[in-house]
Amino acid sequence: MFLSADRIEFFQKEFNIARYQFQALKRLHNLSDGLVNKTVLEIGGSNLPRELILNDLECKKWVSVDVIPESHYALKKQTKHYQQEKVYSLKQAEKFISSESYIIFNGFAENIPNVLDNYFDVVFSVASFEHIGRLQLVVQKIFESLKIGGLLYSRFGPIFSCCTGHHINFQGFNENIPEFAHLLMRPFDLLKHLRNFYDLETASDIIYRIYFSERINRLFYEDYEACMALSSFNDFKCTPFGIQAVPMNTLAKLSEVYPWSSRFDAYGMEIVAHKTH
Ligand SMILES: C[S@@+](CC[C@H](N)C(=O)[O-])C[C@H]1O[C@@H](n2cnc3c(N)ncnc32)[C@H](O)[C@@H]1O
Repeated sequence: MFLSADRIEFFQKEFNIARYQFQALKRLHNLSDGLVNKTVLEIGGSNLPRELILNDLECKKWVSVDVIPESHYALKKQTKHYQQEKVYSLKQAEKFISSESYIIFNGFAENIPNVLDNYFDVVFSVASFEHIGRLQLVVQKIFESLKIGGLLYSRFGPIFSCCTGHHINFQGFNENIPEFAHLLMRPFDLLKHLRNFYDLETASDIIYRIYFSERINRLFYEDYEACMALSSFNDFKCTPFGIQAVPMNTLAKLSEVYPWSSRFDAYGMEIVAHKTH
């Protein structure tokens, strides 16, 4: 059985764990027939508390690989968790991998060392793939880190090709950005529009985040399918979630600019992949 409603409420209150994280964990739990005694690698996340992982889910080992600069939002949002955990550099993976059953490595998943090859039963990733620029390499690292028979479960969004794919909603500026502006407007046209609401500094910052910063990868729905098709996984399924119908006239404009894409309605994607060889 997955966690009781009481336990979920406890972790939400005590550790600020979001509802979508439990949704993803529950799905993984169902897909992998529970996590008891499993060795799990988390990509792009390190905020699930060890009590949840080791006591409630009874994992044998949980290794997080996450990029955690001092300014990372999770350090402020999940204070209690990060106060009680030591964070090691991914460069020290070989030295510390065997030391504990719950371990956090700070570093880019692209740099996961070979010492972790064929190590994990499961790779779990939530709300991260849309942030990873060198995704093809990361998917390859994931493949290599899994044992044969191992499972990758990733659930992520908003994908850049959906109406909120710019991620600005998380900073509270969303209401002044026209729908699909990030796909249909050039940066300075949007800047001109934003100047009706914000000073130049704020408007420029929004433009930087939408079009230029490295915090999101700007891949479209079909790009993730292509990435998986190019990968070493030959057993995988990509499924959209959070479908939001796109108005006909907007869809016509999008289709004209991006004739190779048709999934502007998918907020996110779930990837389930097995390592069969
Ligand atoms: C939106 S956060 C999600 C964090 C956590 N999974 C959650 O749901 O709260 C995306 C995370 O991906 C991490 N990330 C981005 N690129 C990465 C990479 N190349 N390797 C490892 N982590 C990465 C970021 O540092 C950030 O912690």
